Amino acid sequence: MSRRLLVTGGAGFIGANFVHHWCQVYPSDRVVVLDALTYAANRRNLALVEGRENFRFVQGNICDRSVVEQLLTTENIDIIAHFAAESHVDRSILEPAAFVQTNVVGTFTLLEAFRQHWEAKSKPSSYRFLHISTDEVYGSLNPDDPAFCETTPYAPNSPYSASKAGSDHLIRAYYHTYKLPTIVTNCSNNYGPYQFPEKLIPLICINILMGKPLPIYGDGKNIRDWLYVGDHCHALDVVINHGKPGETYNIGGNNEVENLNLVQTLCQMMDELAPDLPVFPSKQLITFVKDRPGHDRRYAINANKIKNQLGWMPSVTIAEGLRLTVEWYLAHRDWWEPLLSAEYQAFYRKNYLESANDR
Ligand code: NAD
Ligand code: TYD
Repeated sequence: MSRRLLVTGGAGFIGANFVHHWCQVYPSDRVVVLDALTYAANRRNLALVEGRENFRFVQGNICDRSVVEQLLTTENIDIIAHFAAESHVDRSILEPAAFVQTNVVGTFTLLEAFRQHWEAKSKPSSYRFLHISTDEVYGSLNPDDPAFCETTPYAPNSPYSASKAGSDHLIRAYYHTYKLPTIVTNCSNNYGPYQFPEKLIPLICINILMGKPLPIYGDGKNIRDWLYVGDHCHALDVVINHGKPGETYNIGGNNEVENLNLVQTLCQMMDELAPDLPVFPSKQLITFVKDRPGHDRRYAINANKIKNQLGWMPSVTIAEGLRLTVEWYLAHRDWWEPLLSAEYQAFYRKNYLESANDR
């Protein structure tokens, strides 16, 4: 039987990759994207599915209860995959208000509307509300600490992770209080096609292609656990189909890498794959800059639960994933060049030049 999904934030990085995945694997399901089209969104991310009969794009805000209610009813939605969020830590440090609004109030609005919709339909057990969250809610690890598991206490350190933690708690409470069939996934850092240039990997790729400095915060020894976005989408598919309501699943790539090593690898790949780089070898562009305030030192995910209970494991190695990503940014200059807009330049100046002086 075909299903009807509401994908919030589907014009952003992971949401768009998920929409591509779902439309390909389940072509008879209806997919409705609700996205406010903030600076991080791009309608072109959905170009591959726009013409499909059972796809619909709606521009709207998850904080707008009437828009959400109307969509749930008219589209007869049975699954919400909730990606919509303010997602960049540096922006949350500069301007945190939008993070509380979208990530906390927006998630609350969706939960209330979905609860009303589910109750009106006599609480079908097949309904799902999948909340896509982050490993950053668990805080920062020391070098010898065990990786985050689902029972690790929350200790968010940035306005971004605090707002995501708040939304995770609401999701949990709606299962416990109302038995609304919610599930939370907490995932490590994603990378791959369609990622907005402000995040580390696309920023480095694009700055190399433009011959601009490659900013490394602090000593470059912070560690992230990288996961290729296609593997994340596959994990979310498995969780929607087989995950248990009320549960949390951690998703990670088993790929802990220090930032400086990652950037050096990207430089080597670009030197090999990109013709006529403005600065060659590109590692000359590496520049240490002032650290991000409150910069978490290390994230690492223990993904044993999803592996043992649902049979999911990442399939793309970091070397393969980085190569695919570098090749994608090389082949899609027409996608990323327009994103380096006046708004992006203003953020860049504020984050890397003006704020750096205050830190
Ligand atoms: P993104 O910033 O690329 O995309 C977010 C999307 O949400 C954009 O299309 C934006 O327009 C939309 N949006 C923002 N506010 C909205 C609002 N009020 N109403 C409707 N739409 C709104 O983010 P992403 O990297 O694709 O992340 C998606 C989700 O995955 C987020 O919830 C994030 O916390 C989570 N996550 C991301 C990562 C990562 O590495 N990128 C890792 C783990 C979890
Ligand atoms: P980012 O992609 O912003 O993801 P997150 O902060 O959510 O983990 O950053 C990944 C890592 O790279 C993080 O340790 C901060 C660091 N970083 C830099 O060193 N320079 C940069 O210009 C950016 C954007 C990030």
